[in-house]
Amino acid sequence: MGGAPAPQPLPTSVGNKDSYSRVATGLPFIALTFDDGPHPQHTPRLLDILKQRNVKATFYVVATNARRYPEIMRRIVAEGHEIGNHTVTHGNLAKMSEAGVRQELTAAHEAIVATTGVAPRTMRPPYGAITASQKAWIRHDFGYPTIMWSVDPEDWKKPGASVVTSRLVSGATPGGILLVHDIHSSTIDAMPSTVDQLLGRGLKFVTVTQLIAMDGRG
Ligand code: NI
Repeated sequence: MGGAPAPQPLPTSVGNKDSYSRVATGLPFIALTFDDGPHPQHTPRLLDILKQRNVKATFYVVATNARRYPEIMRRIVAEGHEIGNHTVTHGNLAKMSEAGVRQELTAAHEAIVATTGVAPRTMRPPYGAITASQKAWIRHDFGYPTIMWSVDPEDWKKPGASVVTSRLVSGATPGGILLVHDIHSSTIDAMPSTVDQLLGRGLKFVTVTQLIAMDGRG
């Protein structure tokens, strides 16, 4: 009886790099990622837009929102999207202690599992703020590669839907990872035209883990 808790099994890692800002492939696939939700109005509206086009995306949720909107979390998973870890407090991980970062990621992981039954397999650091050594031990201990991005239209500055669309469409290339936020109405407004233009260019949308599986192929 008693003693140390049983060691956690080492999770199966996605990919073989500590971090990805894009994937090396000539295959016509990209990943669309939505950070900081779920939001009670904007996320369901986004899900409708994606469903109409049979497009799959990845949601880097903040655990406080995940706990607040478990039905939206379950809808995201039920409709074939992926959920990633974006911490609990949305703080700057690069300025936190190792114990603090571990607590952020563990609590967010548990909130995602509790609401959806599915474990996240990648993480994105708030503000992209993370050190190389943090990336290495997070991948080792959590099995998460750190997911950055190749296209950032700065939608949080609310430049208008048409500007968000043009920045995403002009920046997207095969293997690319597109960063936007599903907590802004204008970002959701930009999505129908963005998705339709990218589909029209022959690009196909996959989740982040699906995209990583193409690294070094094609
Ligand atoms: Ni964020």
